[in-house]
Amino acid sequence: MRVRKAVLPVAGFGTRVLPATKTIPKEMLPVVDRPAIQYVVDEALEAGIEHIVFVTGRNKGAIEDYFDISYELEESLKKKNKTAILEQVQQTVMPAGTASFVRQQSPLGLGHAIWCARDIIGNEPFAVLLPDVIVKGKPSCLAQMVKAYDEVGGNIVAVDPVPMERVSSYGVIAPESRDGRLIKMSGMVEKPPMESAPSNLKITGRYILQPEIFGLLADQAAGAGGEIQLTDAMARQMESQAYYAYEFEGREYDCGSKLGYFEAVLAYALDNPETAEGARELVKKMAAGL
Ligand code: G1P
Repeated sequence: MRVRKAVLPVAGFGTRVLPATKTIPKEMLPVVDRPAIQYVVDEALEAGIEHIVFVTGRNKGAIEDYFDISYELEESLKKKNKTAILEQVQQTVMPAGTASFVRQQSPLGLGHAIWCARDIIGNEPFAVLLPDVIVKGKPSCLAQMVKAYDEVGGNIVAVDPVPMERVSSYGVIAPESRDGRLIKMSGMVEKPPMESAPSNLKITGRYILQPEIFGLLADQAAGAGGEIQLTDAMARQMESQAYYAYEFEGREYDCGSKLGYFEAVLAYALDNPETAEGARELVKKMAAGL
C-alpha cells in the first residue's frame, strides 16, 4: 500500500533554543522567509504525502494558524495589489481535510508522540518527519525513501554518518550489508555511549513505518532519558518485520540547535535567488573580519 500519510511531531518545548521559543514554537522560527516547518511539509508533499498529522501541544497554536487561511491578510494584500506575496501566502494554506492536529498532553517522548497519531493513521504504512531536521536534497529525502519503499516495502529509516564523538546524541543503527544506499541492519539503539555504539550511522529523523508499530508503542517502556523512545519500539518491530536503513543523498540541518539553525539559515540564504548574492558577499566580508 502506498505511503499517503505523515506524522510530524511538533509538541517539543525547543529547550535548546530558549528563550527564543518561550512564546514561539521552534518550528515557526524563520529560515530566510519561511518557517522551518514549511520546508518539512514541502518535503512530505514532494514525496506524495496527502495527509499530514501534526502532533502538537500547548502553545503550538501558531502552527495550526499558519497552515490555515488568513482572510484579513489576504484581503489586505489583494487591495494593495501585492499579488506576488499574496500568492506565496496562499500557497501555505493546506487544502481542507488534508491536515489533522492531535495533542500530546505530556512530553513522554517521541514514541509516545507518534502513538498519539494512531487513530488518524489507521491501518496503513505512514511516514514520520521530525521537524527539527531540515533536509536539503533533490529529490527530497522522503521522496528518495518512498522510491526505495516502493521497491522493497517493509520499514525504512533514513541515516547519515556523524563523527563518532556525536553518536550518543542520536539513534544509531547496526549495519549488516549494503545494496547501494539501502542498508540491511541487525539492530538499532537510542543514544548509545560512543564506546558501545554499533556504527556512526545516525537515524536522521525520516521514517517509513508499518502500522503495527502502534501496538508496540502502546506498551513500550521508557528508555533513554526516561522517555518512550520510537527507536526502542522499532528495534522490537525488527524481530518480526523487514527493516532497512537508507543513506539518503542530501544535507541535513538540525534546527533544534543554535548552530544547526544558523547553518540552515545560511545555506538557504545562499540558495535563494533574492538573497544569494548579498549573502555570499556578507559571508566573504565577515570571514575576512571586515
Ligand atoms: C530523535 C530520535 C533519534 C534521532 C534524532 C534525529 O532524537 O529519537 O533516534 O537520531 O531524533 O534528530 P531527539 O533529537 O528527539 O533526542
